Amino acid sequence: MTQGQEQRDVSRRRFHLGVIYTLMGTIGTAMGIPAVIYLLFPPKSRKAEEWVEVTDLNSLPLGAAEEVVFRKTRVDGWKVSSEKTSAWVVKKSASEVIAFSPQCTHLGCAFRYEEQKKTFLCPCHTSNFDLDGNVIDGPAPRALDRYLIKLEGQKLLLGPVQKSPEA
Ligand code: FES
Repeated sequence: MTQGQEQRDVSRRRFHLGVIYTLMGTIGTAMGIPAVIYLLFPPKSRKAEEWVEVTDLNSLPLGAAEEVVFRKTRVDGWKVSSEKTSAWVVKKSASEVIAFSPQCTHLGCAFRYEEQKKTFLCPCHTSNFDLDGNVIDGPAPRALDRYLIKLEGQKLLLGPVQKSPEA
């Protein structure tokens, strides 16, 4: 091999290495920029703290339960969805209200209000709860879960559901 051929081989090898390094750098940058953007500006986390106005206190019966149905917006990453949900609201006095999550604390069935007995009855395994959400009988291991509530004048706002402690 002559000296001129060797020099051409070396410069060709350098050229190929340069192309390979440039491609690797370009690919690394293309993959790294989104990762850096994601780390610096993470998507909004699930907003469990959102408050939703659900009803007016004046429309609720005193000392009884009323089911209120409302829509809740959920932000999960970049996905925003709206879902229909409900709460059992008990107006204890003019300014005291409790709002229960509509799922039984046993296995999550939807319970109903028994107007005559002023209790909540779960049809799945017959757990009974009083108007404070306490278990009267049945297999439910704990009281009903409650929404955080906020009153703005006569407007009732519901926040996230708080899991009740084990009995
Ligand atoms: S799910 Fe309600 S009692 Fe079992």
